[in-house]
Amino acid sequence: MHIQNYLAEWKGKIDEKLVDCLPPENTYPSTLSKAMRYTVLAGGKRIRSILLITTYRLCGGEEIEKVLPMACALEFIHSYSLIHDDLPAIDDDGYRRGILSSHKKFGEDIAILAGDALFSHAFRTIAESSIIPEKKEKILKVLTYAIGNQGIIGGQVKDVESDVEMKSPKLLRYIHSHKTAYFFSVSCEMGGILAGANKEKLLSLRRGGLFMGMAFQIIDDILDVEGDREKVGKEVNTDENKLTYPSMFGLEFSKKIARRYSELSMKHLKLIDEKEETLKNMILLLLERVK
Ligand code: IPE
Ligand code: IPE
Ligand code: MG
Ligand code: MG
Ligand code: MG
Repeated sequence: MHIQNYLAEWKGKIDEKLVDCLPPENTYPSTLSKAMRYTVLAGGKRIRSILLITTYRLCGGEEIEKVLPMACALEFIHSYSLIHDDLPAIDDDGYRRGILSSHKKFGEDIAILAGDALFSHAFRTIAESSIIPEKKEKILKVLTYAIGNQGIIGGQVKDVESDVEMKSPKLLRYIHSHKTAYFFSVSCEMGGILAGANKEKLLSLRRGGLFMGMAFQIIDDILDVEGDREKVGKEVNTDENKLTYPSMFGLEFSKKIARRYSELSMKHLKLIDEKEETLKNMILLLLERVK
């Protein structure tokens, strides 16, 4: 199947499940339920959840219905991170997924709380899923690591503490790996864990996902410079004072680095992807993305 159709098909299935897994709009307090639904259902490429499903399938998993809640949990965590990332205290972005950011729509108080609620809701969704306890335990261990102080939050802290003058490639790598790539890595690894993949495969998934995430964040930085606001669905030219790949290496070299990370990712994922090449095609598409 053509990769674009593949992505559209899975996005459709995940979107449907997200609607089901979120609290209905009238759940008390309804402002909160509305705010939770607002950002999650505004769209989004659903890359992390599709990665989980794809790696699960490629490792032999067949019970898609059972793992869909796990994929939704990743999207809840991702949306929470975006709501908080857009707040005036962090990136101060008013536009997200083609509509007003959560704090512009609901106010900062509700946006912060909607982010908090989505974070909790992710773990409630995992807890209530019918995955066997041994797998749940493994998943909780890797997932909480990837999104916590030594993962997303650590990356976000260095992101806000850094600026364009700090010309340190090591710091830049820290920021990108922690704020974005570890989450890609764990999305792939979770697919493997859920399918019962062996250690060798899990390691390939972890590494492949990490390099894919690095490339993804570099392209995101590039889109902030070159992208079209309407296509990307968020403000552009907002990273001017930030430490990013384009600010450190220039646009052309940044594109080369993104390509190199993508190649590394494909190399590691080949072990599970050789026959189908879905991940390879996805990586190549993400490299050329305009949104
Ligand atoms: C945006 O992620 C935040 C980054 C890590 C660059 P996505 O580009 O996956 O955002 P959505 O989910 O498609 O809106
Ligand atoms: C966001 O990085 C990473 C997280 C939300 C964890 P960015 O700040 O570059 O993401 P965008 O560009 O706002 O989507
Ligand atoms: Mg940010
Ligand atoms: Mg941002
Ligand atoms: Mg960005």
